[in-house]
Amino acid sequence: MPSRLRAIPAGVLLVAAGTFGLLAVLAVLGRAFGGPPEVPLPERIPRPPDYAKPLGAALSLGPAREDEAYLDAFLRTFTSLTPENAMKWEVVHPARGRWNFDEADALVDAAVRTRKRVRGHPLVWDQQLPPYAARGDVETMLREHVRTLVRRYRGRVAQWDVVNEPLEDDGTLTQNPWQRTLGERWIDVAFATARAADPEAQLFLNEIGAERGVKFSALVALARRLRDRGVPIDGIGLQNHTTSGNFPSREVLAEDLAAIGKLGLEAEITEMDVEGASPRAYAAAARACADAPNCTGLTVWGVTDRWSWIGEDKRALPFDAAGRAKPALRALTGPLRRR
Ligand code: XIL
Repeated sequence: MPSRLRAIPAGVLLVAAGTFGLLAVLAVLGRAFGGPPEVPLPERIPRPPDYAKPLGAALSLGPAREDEAYLDAFLRTFTSLTPENAMKWEVVHPARGRWNFDEADALVDAAVRTRKRVRGHPLVWDQQLPPYAARGDVETMLREHVRTLVRRYRGRVAQWDVVNEPLEDDGTLTQNPWQRTLGERWIDVAFATARAADPEAQLFLNEIGAERGVKFSALVALARRLRDRGVPIDGIGLQNHTTSGNFPSREVLAEDLAAIGKLGLEAEITEMDVEGASPRAYAAAARACADAPNCTGLTVWGVTDRWSWIGEDKRALPFDAAGRAKPALRALTGPLRRR
């Protein structure tokens, strides 16, 4: 042993070696268990068909990691990805100044690696909103939230649902924390902040149950007011959650898309699912979107029935619980395929 080491007491050497060993073990364990989660992409990425417009699905990290059939059905069918929950305020920004991008990063990274378009969803919504964001200086917190999220994914998110579900079923504006304090101007603030943070992203106003009737008229009226006062809005999202017994026809959707086009705006079917998975309902939306020059794409809300937000028993998606294609799949993809 070199004389200088001999001068160090054996006990100190032992403690040092022990500490080093422990740190090494922790580092290995950390990489195995504690590292940021990833989507387990296969070595060979399946290639979806060639569509005339993006065909998307909402995706969640949990199912993508534990259910191979879900991930495989997604990868081989869809060309656009919407994080189902990962970008929602309560998930990504649970306390003021505290951010958790783990799941959103994993989904966006997977989309980039598999060349899928990303729809960011949603920036401002009064659901899945942590209590802190609804109290105090809600305008400043809204600006901070929108700016941080949009900047982080600049260049990777093609479209954002900037404002989600601002309307009641009767067409009036929901009395959410921002509407109560700022009036309708909160919508202007959300869009302007998003535009400044990423001038390239397409900015959407997204609404549920507004495919027909007074809610559709109110949605168009709101979009017209926004456009007329110079708010940087690019498009309107129609969620199109529907049922096999009462779904919007191709004609109704074609009229909707045309009315939106008349405002100079794009449109997207953003969250489609159909209780009972009527192939006619899926075909109606796919045809309407395929035929409308201003329709930028169609997204379904989930992949397989097993993970559907409205429950497996509703059988609402184009793939069954085991990931087998249902007749709805052909109905959906047929009209969108490039001929
Ligand atoms: C749903 C998710 O699918 C569920 O997992 C979550 O528990 C609640 O939200 N409109 C929207 C979506 O804009 O964000 C909602 O997603 C469905 C209705």
